[in-house]
Amino acid sequence: MNNKNLQFNKQNAILLGLAAIFFALFLTTVSGCKHDPYINPDTPPSISNNCDADTVYFQNVILPLLVTNCATSGCHDKNTHKEGVILTDYSSIINTGGINITNPSDSKIYRQLNKTDDDRMPPPPANAFTESQKNSLLTWIEQGAKNNECVENTECDTSNVTFNGSVVPIFENNCYGCHSQPTPAGNIDLKNTDDLARIVNNGALAGSVLHQAGYSPMPKGYNMTQCEVRTIVIWANDTVFPGGGGGGGGNPDPCDPDTTYFQNTVLPLLVSNCATSGCHNQQSHEHGVILTDYASIIQTAEVKPGDPSGSKLYKVLFGGDKRDDDIMPPPPASPFSAEQKQIIYDWISQGALNNSCNSGCDTSTVTFSGTIWPLMQTWCTGCHSGSNAGGNIHIENYNDVVAIANNGKLMGTVSHAPGYVPMPKNGDKFSDCQIAEIRIWIENGTPNN
Ligand code: HEC
Ligand code: HEC
Repeated sequence: MNNKNLQFNKQNAILLGLAAIFFALFLTTVSGCKHDPYINPDTPPSISNNCDADTVYFQNVILPLLVTNCATSGCHDKNTHKEGVILTDYSSIINTGGINITNPSDSKIYRQLNKTDDDRMPPPPANAFTESQKNSLLTWIEQGAKNNECVENTECDTSNVTFNGSVVPIFENNCYGCHSQPTPAGNIDLKNTDDLARIVNNGALAGSVLHQAGYSPMPKGYNMTQCEVRTIVIWANDTVFPGGGGGGGGNPDPCDPDTTYFQNTVLPLLVSNCATSGCHNQQSHEHGVILTDYASIIQTAEVKPGDPSGSKLYKVLFGGDKRDDDIMPPPPASPFSAEQKQIIYDWISQGALNNSCNSGCDTSTVTFSGTIWPLMQTWCTGCHSGSNAGGNIHIENYNDVVAIANNGKLMGTVSHAPGYVPMPKNGDKFSDCQIAEIRIWIENGTPNN
């Protein structure tokens, strides 16, 4: 190969290279002019395990915002789709919302928020978006209008749930858009204390966010995080509005056979099997778990309303994935029966409410099998059976009950008479009516009826 040839090849190579660069530039310019960068409307959500403070996530922030404020009936839901715009899900928002990621503030849905006249969205009388809501939308578009979601990997902290600090921010993101003046959905204004009291007291708030049968599932159109649901339910369960029975007090409704009641069934079961000394009473609190009252049970036994299999209280009844002797209650106590496990399961599935029902205490027809034995089984047998029976007193059958009835200890302990240890230990004193039932049964000669 001579020098001339080499020279020619070099020049050729340079020319070819330049041509390639120009061609590439040409292609990018042309495509840049003609199309916005393409967003695939069918992209599934990408989920990250950490919430980055500077990122606006579609599933966490934008979807709730648009669904609650815009995808309402008569506006941009699938049925009405005013002006062809549907704002119910990612693909509809990308397809019909006029998102422009090259020039974000020129995106159709963003422009509509900023109009001042009657054309602004949402239209009057609905409230306009706040500046921070507008900014969230703009930032999300600037960040590429992605279908992203983040899941906090920190534990959901429900140790200090307050209305203003915990519940209001959730309502702001998920509920006020539909449930506030001037046209509160379902006639429920969540900013109005009377309305709020009503849905707390009648169970509709917890029922709707837990998607329980008989309630309209809320929020409409998407799901909140487990942590948000738990926070609302825990607050609702712990809140008693004047005049209502939200906290289990007051004058409860008659017992519904399909409901598992905390005060009537769950609390006695836990107190008599688990809140024993050396275990989970206030003094011993093994592993920090206290099972003597509603607030302690929810918090220390990690009860996740609506999610029994995610709740420690339920998992420990099976020993979790650990060794058999980790089953609660530990040997030599007997493990929970299938029925008892079911009680815990049902109660948590139904929202782990602090509810109670009026079991119809009736002193006119007292029998052993219908009145006294159910009371003993619910409140006393757990502590008073097996090799560890409290005070070595057994309450396992008819004869056992007759024995403590006859020596005065049954009446003495349940009526908290001086000289007796008050029973049920760690539980509330029986109601006057229940004590009267026991007294009547004894006065009738402790019949086995
Ligand atoms: C997109 C609008 C929308 C959103 C968002 C929304 N709701 Fe509703 N809500 C309604 C409508 C409409 C009703 C009336 C019943 C129905 O149509 O299902 C209703 C009914 C209810 C009810 C009564 C349910 C019943 O069965 O008695 C409660 C309680 C409720 N909402 C609470 C909430 C809470 C709490 C949030 C936020 C976590 C929320 N809603 C978010 C529209 C909404
Ligand atoms: C959480 C466990 C627990 C529950 C629930 C419980 N007991 Fe006891 N009970 C004990 C223990 C422990 C003792 C022994 C005294 C002590 O250490 O306080 C005892 C003692 C007694 C005594 C003897 C007290 C005395 O003063 O002589 C009687 C009678 C009795 N219990 C009846 C009952 C009845 C009836 C119920 C149900 C209404 C009941 N207990 C529920 C744990 C319990």
